[in-house]
Amino acid sequence: MANVTVIGAQWGDEGKGKLVDWLSNRADVVVRFQGGHNAGHTLVVGNEVYKLSLLPSGVVQGKLSVIGNGVVVDPWHLLEEIAKIGAQGVQVTPDLLILADNACLILPLHKDLDQAREATAVKKIGTTGRGIGPAYEDKVGRRAIRVADLADREALEAKIDRLLAHHTPLRRGLGLPEIDAAAMLAELEAVAPQILAFAKPAWLHLNEVVRAGRRVLFEGAQGALLDVDHGTYPYVTSSNTVAGQAAAGSGLGAKATGYVLGIVKAYTTRVGEGPFPTELDDAVGQHLGTVGKEFGTVTGRARRCGWFDAALVRQSVALNGIAGIALTKLDVLDGLETLKICTGYRLDGQDYAYLPAGLKAQSQLEPVYEEMDGWRESTQGARSWRELPASAVKYVRRIEELIGAPVALLSTSPQRDDTIMMRDPFAD
Ligand code: IMP
Repeated sequence: MANVTVIGAQWGDEGKGKLVDWLSNRADVVVRFQGGHNAGHTLVVGNEVYKLSLLPSGVVQGKLSVIGNGVVVDPWHLLEEIAKIGAQGVQVTPDLLILADNACLILPLHKDLDQAREATAVKKIGTTGRGIGPAYEDKVGRRAIRVADLADREALEAKIDRLLAHHTPLRRGLGLPEIDAAAMLAELEAVAPQILAFAKPAWLHLNEVVRAGRRVLFEGAQGALLDVDHGTYPYVTSSNTVAGQAAAGSGLGAKATGYVLGIVKAYTTRVGEGPFPTELDDAVGQHLGTVGKEFGTVTGRARRCGWFDAALVRQSVALNGIAGIALTKLDVLDGLETLKICTGYRLDGQDYAYLPAGLKAQSQLEPVYEEMDGWRESTQGARSWRELPASAVKYVRRIEELIGAPVALLSTSPQRDDTIMMRDPFAD
């Protein structure tokens, strides 16, 4: 199997950036297939820290990188991110980056709408405020501006009129200033040449790559429980984040996903609002947040923290077809005397082995825990299984049993090389 799809198996922030960076060494092409610059991928290479939100992590390794049609693209942000990592010594040229010409754009009006809604909502979603949801709404509403439209002034003018016919009354209702069509056209035309330099039929290039037997690494953003269908709706993002989207969001056939690697944190975190059965509001929760440096890459918000939820990850294994997991941040648990793992839930006297779909049910679930001994030794930076304390090995083995998937990789620090490989996803 030549391809690997990396997805977050919880609520995002599982440490995908590091693993994708590590795996991209073995890949020929790295592809983003959903989401936008709401993602935050941190890559630590030696003394250099790269923070990417939209660019595929492969750019840092100089691998051909593709932003697929399933991604929503803020053109100004894209150019800023390219300039930022350019200043760190990574030059992103059209030879290195392909932007799908059929990807939809995020415009300033999407960001306005996202932020105005969050500011006025009685029940906030806790979005990143970057316009992701409104951009996807316009995509399915068939009024979005796509990358290719930037090359066609006439089409662009007509599309702007159509878009504003929808947004003007919305903006009026929210007390936002009206948008001038000519000004919007001028702004888009100003950015068009730089963006179009990267624009190509990404699906065509990717199909050629696959036919040539080269290895594709799909880089998911967010996490399976933030999936618009399968997540804790409506407290989700606006795209499908599950592995199956890798094919549709890049223009390849369904079999393209290959080995699905779920990235799983050794405990659970979540940013934004929504149900979180194993959330801890105590000293252990604070330990996880502080030791794990649980602050959002994109918004800087403190993440909510809790025990490992095996029921949730078991569900993720099923939804994504996860073949193996990469377990991250085990070292954050170092020094905790006792650890708890959630094995299922109880609600109104009934047991659940999965997260029921109803929002009320999800927020009232009582987690069922089993306890395990912790370990005093440091696991940070361990480079082999033998360096781990016996209780840590037991914890990892129990996780494997409960979620029904093996640990393929164990990440023991943010550094690229602190990774223990049990099996090579590209070889499986
Ligand atoms: P949006 O994607 O900005 O619309 O935000 C919707 C929800 O997804 C919020 O709860 C965000 O905190 C969450 N979210 C979006 N992107 C990420 C991410 O990369 N990591 C973790 N949570 C995210």
